[in-house]
Amino acid sequence: MSGTPELRQRMMNHLQEAQGLQLAYVGLVNGLFQALAAEPSSGEALAGRTATDPAYVARWCDAAYAFGMLDENQGQFTLSSVGQAFLPDASFSLMPLAVNAMLNSHMADRAAALMRSGERPGEEVLAENKTLLPWFGPMLEGSFAPLFDQQILNGVPVFSEMDRKGGLVVDLGCGNGWYLRQLARKMANIKGVGLDGFAENIHQAADLAKKEKLDSRLRFLKGDIHDFTLDEPADIIAMNRALHHVWDKKESVFAALRDHLAPGGAVVIWEPNWPANRAELRHPAKRGLALQNLIEHIQGNHLLRPDEISAGFESVGMIPQVYLFAEGREAVIVGRKKQTP
Ligand SMILES: C[S@@+](CC[C@H](N)C(=O)[O-])C[C@H]1O[C@@H](n2cnc3c(N)ncnc32)[C@H](O)[C@@H]1O
Repeated sequence: MSGTPELRQRMMNHLQEAQGLQLAYVGLVNGLFQALAAEPSSGEALAGRTATDPAYVARWCDAAYAFGMLDENQGQFTLSSVGQAFLPDASFSLMPLAVNAMLNSHMADRAAALMRSGERPGEEVLAENKTLLPWFGPMLEGSFAPLFDQQILNGVPVFSEMDRKGGLVVDLGCGNGWYLRQLARKMANIKGVGLDGFAENIHQAADLAKKEKLDSRLRFLKGDIHDFTLDEPADIIAMNRALHHVWDKKESVFAALRDHLAPGGAVVIWEPNWPANRAELRHPAKRGLALQNLIEHIQGNHLLRPDEISAGFESVGMIPQVYLFAEGREAVIVGRKKQTP
């Protein structure tokens, strides 16, 4: 039994890419890329401008230079094209990948430690890492808002209907609120309510809606999907990567979704598409799902197959329809409530 020099070299190359993402994460969280985009700086000046420690920043600059993220001229650092690609608002930003790399490291460490006892600490594992939580929402937005904009909005007819008719969209487990902001930007006659269990997410969502002057139409509230109330029935209830967090009580969740909908309204569930056959996980587009499912296990969850979600809708008298995106990696399942009871 042995590896080969080629396999070892391949893994070394992967490791080096992962090191680059970890290094980038340190710079992002401390605003170093963002400050260098505004103005070239020496390490010392960069530390002053970002209220960070000069000795740490000096080491970070050396490393970011080594990984080709920074260029240097007479002691002044600037962002290279690779460094610019890590800026959170760059097109095709690498920021979500840097955050994802750190999230995976944190969760892999937790899984390694918990595997013997079988303990599953739940949702709070995310909050254990103080630098990660504020970047969780931006990571999800950076990863999935482009797909929503470019494919899902046009590929799922319920959205063009909503655009025509207007009404109330409720987003359960809304994260940083990117989904409602994106809808409200495109559809002038909708209003939205977002609900999430983490106060950090709600603060971010409310601040971002205010910045974009959408706060007269969008409200964000801290609350529990298992026990929420609405002032009026919703035309759409959306759950993006949130249903698998509450699947253990699926019977009451599906009943509540139906009951909070207006007649003819729709529940729009977006979930990673857990394949029916293990062999499908080998596909490069789906491989990441398998690691995600291990991470979800720590949080008390597991990824779902679209047919399980469809069965949930049928169990409360709703009619499901499944749409697949991103080489079948992403599933949107729409459940319709009948016009008349
Ligand atoms: C994977 S994140 C998805 C966030 C957002 N929908 C998105 O797509 O960016 C799942 C979200 O569900 C929220 N969540 C999980 N269980 C919840 C519950 N019982 N009540 C409220 N929010 C919950 C989490 O706080 C988290 O923000």
